[in-house]
Amino acid sequence: MASPFLSALILFLVSSSFILPLSHSSINIPVNDAFALRLIHRDSPHSPFYNHSMTAHNRRLAAAHRSISSLHHLLFRVNGGPEFSPKLIPASLEYVINFYVVTPPTHVYAFIDTGSDFIWIKGIPFFDPSKSSTYANLLCDSGLCNDLGISKTCKDLQELCTYQYVCADKAYTSGVLSRDRFEFELKNPAGTSIVNVGFVQFGYSKVTSSEFTGKENGCVGLNYDDLSLITQLGIKKFSHCLTIPDDLVPGSYMYFGLNAVVNGSQTSIVQNPVKIYAVGLEGISVGDQMVEQNVEGIIIDSGTAYTILRPELLQPILDKMKQFIKKPLLPGIPGLFELCFNGTFDDVRDLPNVTFHFVGGADFQPIKETTFVEIADSVCRLAFLRSSLGLNVFGNVQMRNFWVGYDLERGVISFQPELCAVFNSNVSKIILK
Ligand SMILES: *[C@@H]1O[C@H](CO)[C@@H](O)[C@H](O)[C@H]1NC(C)=O
Ligand SMILES: *[C@@H]1O[C@H](CO)[C@@H](O)[C@H](O)[C@H]1NC(C)=O
Ligand SMILES: *[C@@H]1O[C@H](CO)[C@@H](O)[C@H](O)[C@H]1NC(C)=O
Ligand SMILES: *[C@@H]1O[C@H](CO)[C@@H](O)[C@H](O)[C@H]1NC(C)=O
Ligand SMILES: *[C@@H]1O[C@H](CO)[C@@H](O)[C@H](O)[C@H]1NC(C)=O
Repeated sequence: MASPFLSALILFLVSSSFILPLSHSSINIPVNDAFALRLIHRDSPHSPFYNHSMTAHNRRLAAAHRSISSLHHLLFRVNGGPEFSPKLIPASLEYVINFYVVTPPTHVYAFIDTGSDFIWIKGIPFFDPSKSSTYANLLCDSGLCNDLGISKTCKDLQELCTYQYVCADKAYTSGVLSRDRFEFELKNPAGTSIVNVGFVQFGYSKVTSSEFTGKENGCVGLNYDDLSLITQLGIKKFSHCLTIPDDLVPGSYMYFGLNAVVNGSQTSIVQNPVKIYAVGLEGISVGDQMVEQNVEGIIIDSGTAYTILRPELLQPILDKMKQFIKKPLLPGIPGLFELCFNGTFDDVRDLPNVTFHFVGGADFQPIKETTFVEIADSVCRLAFLRSSLGLNVFGNVQMRNFWVGYDLERGVISFQPELCAVFNSNVSKIILK
């Protein structure tokens, strides 16, 4: 089923000789001040998408389904599109940020997507460009319009730069590439300050498919391709510290700029044609025993909830873990949580740790509360899903309570364990030192 392009990516990811320094592109709008953004999890009561009538169990199942959608989404990106119908796949993104497009400010809630580079915002009645004095359309012959690649739909060079784009999988959006000034809000114990990041090019979407009738106003791509927020703002370092649970103050944060550095273990970003954050995985161990040792690529994706592993990686973990579980095993949910038992987190504490060994000696040991999922009726499930599409994805659930840094200058991803709720409550100190 793997297309030549996908095979090429997997080969890229597998072969460490393809680790290259990352290139940076043209549109550098320097951000003088470091800044931070609150990341609102879609299932947190602070989220505009919070559904009061869902149980915790349903939320976890929904997150598992979204993870599988996200896997299709990533494969769709890697393949460049044609082989998979994005219409089959429900919206899959996880974290929302809010910011303003001026002048005067329009308040935007948008999903972040580390798997893509495009920024787009819903048009009228939500955002009305005729009311913004700082807004401008881009023409079809602009260099940035060419950066849209297959999403570009204009032909005549003097036309407006039009696009049709797939964001959260089945959701299409089309409109005009444009620019306006963006402002982010930094809330911290000292008050709220506004960070003006200058002009950003984004898609002003005149048409959004029915999947986007909800409260989301757009999407912000954070990979390192030309049109992403990261590239446009000339950001060389960013990081995030995701909390568990999602709903407590201060919540999860993403940090940008010089202070966003992480000291912890490091592994190299493996450069790939679609500019997603991929690294090399040397193996996985359960307790002190390596269950699978075979270097391959894994995509680090904060837009995917649960970690998804190819059967060759997942199966030995399931088999090994089973030997340690003393509580009665329960039937799993095929394709989602496969290893389940009748027990609580108290029983999980005695189970061996799972460690991801990234290339370069960087070991990542997710905490127990993210290695297993506890369901209300005292059922625990191993929180790794099976990948049927050849790609491995390291998801945001397992990144919780780690400070994860992306250093594009050095081409590395770093991580160190942190109690993110405590860490993020010191936002002002971290950012404004
Ligand atoms: C909210 O959750 C309930 C129960 O799972 C579901 O029936 C309903 O469709 C959801 N509403 C929305 C807007 O998703
Ligand atoms: C991080 O690195 C800096 C400089 O190398 C060092 O001074 C500091 O102690 C380190 N912090 C931690 C928490 O390891
Ligand atoms: C788990 O075990 C308890 C008794 O220890 C039992 O009452 C309960 O029904 C079991 N749950 C499931 C899902 O089997
Ligand atoms: C798992 O790792 C933690 C943190 O390193 C450690 O404290 C704990 O003892 C380990 N648990 C087991 C069962 O090895
Ligand atoms: C904030 O950081 C200081 C050290 O700079 C630490 O002593 C304090 O405990 C932190 N505050 C919280 C709420 O974690």
